[in-house]
Amino acid sequence: MVATQDRITVQPRLTIQTAEIAPNTTTIRSLDWDRDRFDIEFGLQNGTTYNSYLIRGEKVALVDTSHAKFEQLYFEALTGLIDPTAIDYIVISHTEPDHSGLVAKLLAIAPQATVVGAKVALQFLDELIHQPYEKMAVKSGSTLDLGNGHRLEFINAPNLHWPDTMFTYDHGTRILYTCDAFGMHYCSDATFDEDLAAIEADYRFYYECLMAPNARSVLGALKRMDALPGYDTIAVGHGPLLRHNLVELTGRYRTWSETKAKAETLVAVFYASDYGYSDRLAQAIAHGITKTSVAVEMLDLNAADPQEVNELVGRSAALIIGTPAQDNGPAIAAISTILSAAKTKQRIGVFESFGGNDEPSYPLQNKFIDLGLKEAFKVIRVTDRPTEALYQLCDEAGTDLGQALTVKETVKQMKSLDQDLDKALGRLSGGLYIITARKNNLSSAMLASWVAQASFEPLGVSIAVAKDRAIESLMQVGDTFVLNILEEGNYSHLMRHFLKRFAPGQDRFEGINIQPAQNGSPILTDALAYLECQVMSRMDAGDHWVVYSRIETGRVSKENGITAVHHRKVGNHY
Ligand code: FEO
Repeated sequence: MVATQDRITVQPRLTIQTAEIAPNTTTIRSLDWDRDRFDIEFGLQNGTTYNSYLIRGEKVALVDTSHAKFEQLYFEALTGLIDPTAIDYIVISHTEPDHSGLVAKLLAIAPQATVVGAKVALQFLDELIHQPYEKMAVKSGSTLDLGNGHRLEFINAPNLHWPDTMFTYDHGTRILYTCDAFGMHYCSDATFDEDLAAIEADYRFYYECLMAPNARSVLGALKRMDALPGYDTIAVGHGPLLRHNLVELTGRYRTWSETKAKAETLVAVFYASDYGYSDRLAQAIAHGITKTSVAVEMLDLNAADPQEVNELVGRSAALIIGTPAQDNGPAIAAISTILSAAKTKQRIGVFESFGGNDEPSYPLQNKFIDLGLKEAFKVIRVTDRPTEALYQLCDEAGTDLGQALTVKETVKQMKSLDQDLDKALGRLSGGLYIITARKNNLSSAMLASWVAQASFEPLGVSIAVAKDRAIESLMQVGDTFVLNILEEGNYSHLMRHFLKRFAPGQDRFEGINIQPAQNGSPILTDALAYLECQVMSRMDAGDHWVVYSRIETGRVSKENGITAVHHRKVGNHY
């Protein structure tokens, strides 16, 4: 098959690529070379793409669109391929703005098109575009025959990674359109995945951020994919399409998800998919939980079958509930089911959804406390549109809960190390440092000891950061921070302060003397020296990230000061 490429450049770093990927099937890929972030926890090293697909049978379907920032480029590319008034169907895989951000604009020039999506997705879209349009709700197993062999079959894939996500399978070309699932934030001119070495780190990181909190849903989707007649290409919504390494890369999703799903401890996260910010806040809490070794299962209160709720509550160590609307009968009924299935050894966490008519949060939590459940975290109040700081608080609340649920396991693991090895490893020493970071209205700090100079040219330092540390979210590639070097004989007050357990979202610098560095992060005035750093790369090291950073500037406050040293006796903990 011949792939034709056509790049139109308006700004140097926003480009469009079109390529024929199968008979009568063209991808329109919006290449966002410089995007450096997706949500707070998700730093991007290699930009991203938003992929859209045009399928021409006797009828014409467009699968997903693009991000609003590509409006001009996208419509130039689309109208170069087809007269938009000839589009019969717009298939929406889910309703996040990076894929459906141009649906309203498209409907303005193609009002004859019918929007095809899951029922929930169409409800979301109604709220997004505020205009009447033709719609067709489809379920798993529904088909749509475009003619010329292009028979589309729809497959529900809830929580991958949005509640309304749906895959589309073209029986004619054996292409499976999966939007976020199996994607990666990786921008290059390569339409396909031939260079596995170049993409695998981003593929893994994307899985960890978006899919790991929904590992069981991933396994459910893989099972439904196995029942298809077979697929040769996965047409993803972000990054290169999977074709050359299809078996390998889908296999990795299976292996990673099986490992996550096998975790002994599980937390159930209940949310109301069509209400306020319930789903986004639930995702942030779930992400925080999966930074630990605890698994998460998310369930939409709107679509919860009582038996499924009972079964999930029975398997869970903690129950997290996003407040639904007071007049949402099915969701309130689902909460009654959770209440009757809850057990005294479980923990309960409640977060508000900010939908305007929330079921009151404290009375809801108290019902569970009265049954004997323990508080997982303080009720997360949401009094305004959620900010980055609130999402960070949710993330931290999730991580704290995961750590609390696995504390016995962690101690057991510490004790399991061979004694001789443990003592030998304990002879490795390190310095004492506080890492401080501030980004917009987010800030964090961490006591660190596993720090070493890593290069002369450029001047670089490596730092090992446990994956369940809150500051990890602020140490993505491109982020800046300060490495504060503590002084022998003058560090105990700082060590005591930063070793404290902070509540989720709590200001780590209250009562501490600080001044801003050139990069905006706090310098601890009592530190012996500081280095301003920028993260260049991160290596996955099991339960830690090894973060390599370039040193940009630094100063010593006391010429004759000596660096505080951390001597350990054993190697099984810090
Ligand atoms: Fe890529 Fe969920 O949007």
